[in-house]
Amino acid sequence: MCGIVGFIGQEDAKEILLKGLEKLEYRGYDSAGIALQSAEGIAVFKEKGRIANLREIVDPAVEAHIGIGHTRWATHGVPSKANSHPHQSTSKRFTLVHNGVIENYELLKNAHLQGVTFLSETDTEIIVQLVEKYVNEGLAVEEAFRTTLTLLHGSYALAMLDSENEGTIYVAKNKSPLLVGAGDNFNVVASDAMAMLQVTNQFIELMDKEMVLVTDSSITIKNYAGEVVERAPYTAELDASDIEKGTYPHFMLKEIDEQPLVIRNIIAKYRNEEGEIELSQDIRDAILASDRIYIIAAGTSYHAGLIGKQFIERFAKIPVEVHVASEFSYNMPLLSENPFFIYISQSGETADSRAVLVQTNEMGYKALTITNVPGSTLSREADYTLLLHAGPEIAVASTKAYTAQLAVLAILSADIAYSKGLEIGFDLTQELGIIASAMEALCGDKEEMEQIAREYLATTRNCFFIGRSLDFYVGLEGALKLKEISYIQAEGFAGGELKHGTIALIENGTPVIALATQEYVNLGIRGNVKEVVARGANPCIISMEGLEMEGDRYVLPAVNEALTPLVSVIPLQLISYYAALHRECDVDKPRNLAKSVTVE
Ligand code: F6R
Repeated sequence: MCGIVGFIGQEDAKEILLKGLEKLEYRGYDSAGIALQSAEGIAVFKEKGRIANLREIVDPAVEAHIGIGHTRWATHGVPSKANSHPHQSTSKRFTLVHNGVIENYELLKNAHLQGVTFLSETDTEIIVQLVEKYVNEGLAVEEAFRTTLTLLHGSYALAMLDSENEGTIYVAKNKSPLLVGAGDNFNVVASDAMAMLQVTNQFIELMDKEMVLVTDSSITIKNYAGEVVERAPYTAELDASDIEKGTYPHFMLKEIDEQPLVIRNIIAKYRNEEGEIELSQDIRDAILASDRIYIIAAGTSYHAGLIGKQFIERFAKIPVEVHVASEFSYNMPLLSENPFFIYISQSGETADSRAVLVQTNEMGYKALTITNVPGSTLSREADYTLLLHAGPEIAVASTKAYTAQLAVLAILSADIAYSKGLEIGFDLTQELGIIASAMEALCGDKEEMEQIAREYLATTRNCFFIGRSLDFYVGLEGALKLKEISYIQAEGFAGGELKHGTIALIENGTPVIALATQEYVNLGIRGNVKEVVARGANPCIISMEGLEMEGDRYVLPAVNEALTPLVSVIPLQLISYYAALHRECDVDKPRNLAKSVTVE
C-alpha cells in the first residue's frame, strides 16, 4: 500500500521518478505526487488518481537532479489532492513521502504540535512538522529526523528533502518495505526494486528502525542510536521484461498465461539431481517435530491455504488449521503443544500476516513463509522460506501466485509424507507436468471463456460459485476474482450450504457456476445444482473429463483428482477477466484495491 521512490544524481530526476511510480502503481492509485529539488527550491506536483494524471500536471520546464515521489492507497484521509503526498512542513523547508501508518499521530499532534496548522487529514503530515519543530528548536536536520523517528509508533518507509540542503535524501524504515539502490554517481530509493530497475539492479535492504542519508555518491545507514551499519548491495534477479506487459493488453492475462511455465519452473526448482522432490532437511525436521500446522494468510493466499490444508492432511497426515491473518492476532485459537506456522503471501509484505508472524516469533514458534518475493519482510522474519518462482505478479488480482502456492504446498506435503515413509499414491512431478499441459490447453481456449463470461455475466448483478470438497475452496477463489475485478457481487459456497439461507437470493437467471471435479461428490454437487435451477438459476457446470454429464457448460482436461484446483481455477480466472472487460472495468487496477497490503 503506497509506494515511494527517490533519486539523487546528475540526470533529470523527473522522468526517473515518474517511471518508477508507474512501476509501483500496483501498490495504490488513489493519488500520486513528486517533489523536485533544484537551486530554485522544491517544486511539488500532486494529483488525485493515477500517475497518468500526475504526468499531465508536472511542469516539463522544471529540471532537478534530486527528487522524491509517492503513489497512494488512502488510509487516513480521503483520496484528494490535499491528502496526496509529498507533504510539506509549514515553512515548506521539509518535504516528505511516506508509506505506512503512524498509529500515534493524534497523540503526537496534541503533545508536540499545538498551534501548527495542518493542511491535510493524513497521519503523515505530523512527521514533517515534527522535523521542522526540532530544527526550529536548534537541532541539526539529521538529529531532528532521528528524534522524530524515535517518537513514531507504527509503520513507515520515508523519504524527505530539505530545501536548505540540495545534496541529501533522508530516508527511514520501520515495518514498511524499503530499498536503497546504488548506481554510478547516483543513488535511488524505492519501495520495490521493480521501480528502479530502469537505472540499477544493485540494491541494499534496509532493516526496521534504520535511517539512511543518501547522497549522489554515498549511502550511509545508521541505527537510531546513531551507529553506522555496513551492508553490501545484492543484485536484483529481475528481468526488466518480467515487469512489462509485452504484447498483452493486461498484466492479468499475461500472468494467467504464464501459469504453465511457472508450474514447470517450480518442478525444476524443487527437484534434486535424481529428479525427486526434495526440500531442505531443516524444514522437514521442523515440521516433523510439530503436532499441528497453522496456516496464516489473507485473500487469495488464504484460499490457497485452505487447499494446502487438504494436501498436508491427506498426504502428510498432520492436522492443519487455516486462519485469516487479520483475525488471528485478536482471536487466537488454543494452540497445540508444538505448533508450526506457515505464512502464505505472494508479496511477503502483507501487514496482517506479518503482525501474526511477529507474535508467533515472540512466542518462540518456528515459521515457514511461502512467498514470491525473496528478501521480503515475511521471508526475512520467518525461520524458513519456500519461494514460488512465479516471477513478478503485477496485476492486482492474483492468478499465477495462487497456482504456484498450490504447487509448492503440494510439494511440501509430498516431501513431508515421503520423509514420514508415507506414499501419496502418484508421482507428483509427473502429475504437475500433466497439470502444466492442461493449463496450456485451457489458456488456449480463451474464446470459449469469453463466450461464457458474455453469456452468464454481461449484465448480472450477482453470481454464486458452488462446489464440494476441493471445488468449494476453488469456488471461493473464483468468487473473489470475479468480484474484485468486475464488481459483480459474487460469493462462493459449499454446495450443500446455499440452501441454508442464501438460496433466497436466487432469482430467475441468477448465474450459479458449479465445479464438478471430484468423483466422490459428483452426484452431490449435481443435486445442489438442481436445487438452484428449480428456483430459476442459470447454471454453468464446469466438470472434469470423465465426470461430465449432459448439459455441462465446460469440460476440463482430466488431471489427478487430488490436484484439480490447479486446473479448475484457470477458467474461473479467465471468465472473471472477460467479465471485467465486458463491463469496461480497469482489469489490472480495480477500484479501492492495492497489490501489496502493508497496513493492518
Ligand atoms: C486477490 C489478492 C489479494 C491477496 C491478499 C494477500 O486477488 O491478490 O486477496 O491475495 O491481499 O496478499 P499476499 O499474498 O501478498 O499476502
